[in-house]
Amino acid sequence: MKKIRIGVLVSGRGSNLQAVIDNIEQGRLSAEVAVVISDQAEAFALERARKRHIPAVHISAAGHKGKREAYDGLLIEELRKHSVDLVILAGFMRIITKVLVQAYPNRIMNIHPALLPAFPGLHVQQAAIEQGVKFSGCTVHFVDEGVDTGPIIIQAAVPVLDSDTEDTLAARILVQEHKIFSRAIQLFAEGRLAVQGRRVVVSGGRAESGDFLINP
Ligand code: GAR
Repeated sequence: MKKIRIGVLVSGRGSNLQAVIDNIEQGRLSAEVAVVISDQAEAFALERARKRHIPAVHISAAGHKGKREAYDGLLIEELRKHSVDLVILAGFMRIITKVLVQAYPNRIMNIHPALLPAFPGLHVQQAAIEQGVKFSGCTVHFVDEGVDTGPIIIQAAVPVLDSDTEDTLAARILVQEHKIFSRAIQLFAEGRLAVQGRRVVVSGGRAESGDFLINP
């Protein structure tokens, strides 16, 4: 099977990037990381890439205040240079513009640490605790021109416990993030994802499910 080339946009520690790299190395993902791009020079994710001899690029947002389209133009230039098939946002903490979305229609995926459409935006683990929901989780979705609004590809749910802090809930969710991001990428690589309006239909997906979850 042909390996797809992924471009990974990051801002921080890069544990999701690491999970993707590990899954590729273990033969679970028909993909290669073509380039890792960070808006933060000090992002540990860049270190992780360099360690694996993956091109690691810092594109500074300095001087681009209020000029998001111009910044996204630089991202597109770098992604094209590396012939990327799919862009993944793995803890990329900038809002991207339609310039980038239109350059890669239905070819940009984001991971978000909540069960969208609940809790878009930032500090969502704390928001879930304060709201008193009994489940939260994570979502991989295609990126459209809104913020955390695109068609949902895959979600994983985790219980929210009475004893949870923002950190303990984030850690429980992160374990699932590391699984579902690679799964979504593999489904894309296998050509099994079809976007139909707001829905992403997965060919050869589950026909039925007797599973359900209760908490507490
Ligand atoms: C992850 O929890 C990811 O879901 C979140 O940032 C973290 C990055 O961790 N992304 C967002 O909140 C996007 N709005 P990582 O750098 O270890 O992969």
